[in-house]
Amino acid sequence: MQNGITLNQFLIDEQRRLGGTDSDLPALVNDIVVACKIISNGVSQGALAGVLGGLGTENVQGEAQKKLDVISNDVMIEAGKRGGYVASMASEEMDEILPATPQGKYLLLFDPLDGSSNIDVNISVGTIFSILRCPEGVANPATADFMQPGTKQVCAGYALYGPSTMFVITTGHGVNGFTLDRNIGEFVLTHPNMTIPEDTREFAINASNTRFWEAPVKRYIDECLAGKEGARKADFNMRWVASMVAEVHRILTRGGIFMYPIDSKTKEKGGRLRLMYEANPMSFIVEQAGGASSTGRQRILEVQPTGTHQRIAVILGSKNEVERVVSYHKEG
Ligand code: F6P
Repeated sequence: MQNGITLNQFLIDEQRRLGGTDSDLPALVNDIVVACKIISNGVSQGALAGVLGGLGTENVQGEAQKKLDVISNDVMIEAGKRGGYVASMASEEMDEILPATPQGKYLLLFDPLDGSSNIDVNISVGTIFSILRCPEGVANPATADFMQPGTKQVCAGYALYGPSTMFVITTGHGVNGFTLDRNIGEFVLTHPNMTIPEDTREFAINASNTRFWEAPVKRYIDECLAGKEGARKADFNMRWVASMVAEVHRILTRGGIFMYPIDSKTKEKGGRLRLMYEANPMSFIVEQAGGASSTGRQRILEVQPTGTHQRIAVILGSKNEVERVVSYHKEG
């Protein structure tokens, strides 16, 4: 079933193989892994643990907070503080950045429970994280120190709380997936060197927004829907879980394209998904797996952030399909 390499062993081996000497990064990832195991436990207990339902509060994004959103946020904060490796943190659930350990080498960003509208209906959700280096000589980073493009990420990953719990990670040397073996309490390497096929016949988009889309997106989806009789001369399949972690995981496993494009409804805000908690970490992972990620007009990883809660258009997945959508944007 599996080859027995735990995530912790894998990270240490990877560092050795690459000649790295910084033990802080594997140690920080390990703290995040522990946090994800705790969150996984809460998610899997569901109603038994009394963690389902809303709190009657809203986060900075104006979204209703679930009990598990807040619990997961606290667990991730603890992880960021535990080892002293993180100078400051930013979370989708917190208005402001949260200082952790002065002199910590890293900045930690996370969406503690992505897709949380799915929790109450027992559909997969996940935790997404991104790690940046704290700028040299900065002991107490400010929000401006987080304003680094996605290309500067040193590590990104997600935990998927699905039928099994998985942890998928990149440090910029490919993408590897681990499955939580509850018998030994460890994530074990089950999906080495995850690679996204360049071509796909499967797309994911919230089609209820069709009337708000821009022309290039509408053209692409219309062509997919036209199937064998249309310009693409092929039938396409559609999926929409409304949980980005689950969608990206599907794409990493069998290919596909995921789109939450800019549309007339979200234009003012810049898009629907968050650049620093969702788009950047997922784009890093997708590119490392051989896929592509764009706003339609720009490579997401090259976008210069202007705020920790910034929103952005996201089109990611199988390379040839993403490039096709980008070319439609160029044609106007
Ligand atoms: O940003 C949170 C999120 O739940 C994503 O995980 C998901 O892709 C998206 O929102 C779903 O949006 P909608 O509810 O518009 O389908």
